[in-house]
Amino acid sequence: MKPKVIPRVKIISMGNAEVGKSCIIKRYCEKRFVNKYLATIGIDYGVTRVTIKDKEVKVNIFDMAGHPIFYEVRNEFYRDTQGAILIYDVSERSSFTALDDWMNEMKSEIGNHGDMDNMIVCVCANKIDKKRVVDEVEGRLWASSHGYHYFETSAQSGEGVNELFKTLLEGVINTIDNGGQKLPTVTQLGYSKEQIDAIQRLKNSKSDYERLGLTTSATKDDVNKAYRKLAVLLHPDKSVAPGSEEAFKLLVAARTNLLKRC
Ligand code: GTP
Ligand code: MG
Repeated sequence: MKPKVIPRVKIISMGNAEVGKSCIIKRYCEKRFVNKYLATIGIDYGVTRVTIKDKEVKVNIFDMAGHPIFYEVRNEFYRDTQGAILIYDVSERSSFTALDDWMNEMKSEIGNHGDMDNMIVCVCANKIDKKRVVDEVEGRLWASSHGYHYFETSAQSGEGVNELFKTLLEGVINTIDNGGQKLPTVTQLGYSKEQIDAIQRLKNSKSDYERLGLTTSATKDDVNKAYRKLAVLLHPDKSVAPGSEEAFKLLVAARTNLLKRC
């Protein structure tokens, strides 16, 4: 009888130092969390066997060190990667803005764009148990604009971790079954960039005029027109964009305040 061939897949972790790459992997493989920070030196390698889509698969995980001094060590491990977890810490904005640099490092090391295009990437917004400074909307938008999956996780509580690996590994297996061609990633957010921009503006503006995109010379009519335009975008009964409800409340309050002034 022919020995059973178990497919092998290669996964890497990327992201700044201390975002929780090793902890996310430990949570998935060993179902535990370590509070103490033990920096990865260069690279950690591990193999785990899992069943994906009723198939046994050997998953080779290359856990990279995030610190820039380890670039020379980790750069040779990018090649032949089929799936990547790109992690940031929601309580540390610099780790989110660094995602573009990680993408660029991966691109330059992999070289062949065909390989990159067929790779499954899951963006992992980690440490959601902490006070966050990067909100879900920003993370989702960044991920979907690159055609990547997005997950919110806590290595501490375990939230989101199994779902992340399930999507990543199923994606890799689907790609293998499809002859190495990635199937289109479904990133149907169900909401538009216009809605997200409106929510961000309502949340971040310093005055009610700014919230409605008006100047201080606006008339009652201008206020009502601007209100209606935004209300159509953000009405909580219609909009599924995260943050719609809060933004809609701000919008209603802004209109009430401005109508009193006109
Ligand atoms: P490098 O190996 O240096 O690149 O770091 P890393 O990204 O592997 O970080 P690591 O997993 O070692 O975690 C860094 C620190 O963050 C540790 O003290 C962890 O306990 C902590 N940590 C990781 N994930 C979480 C989380 O979801 N919530 C909280 N509160 N802390 C976390
Ligand atoms: Mg590590």
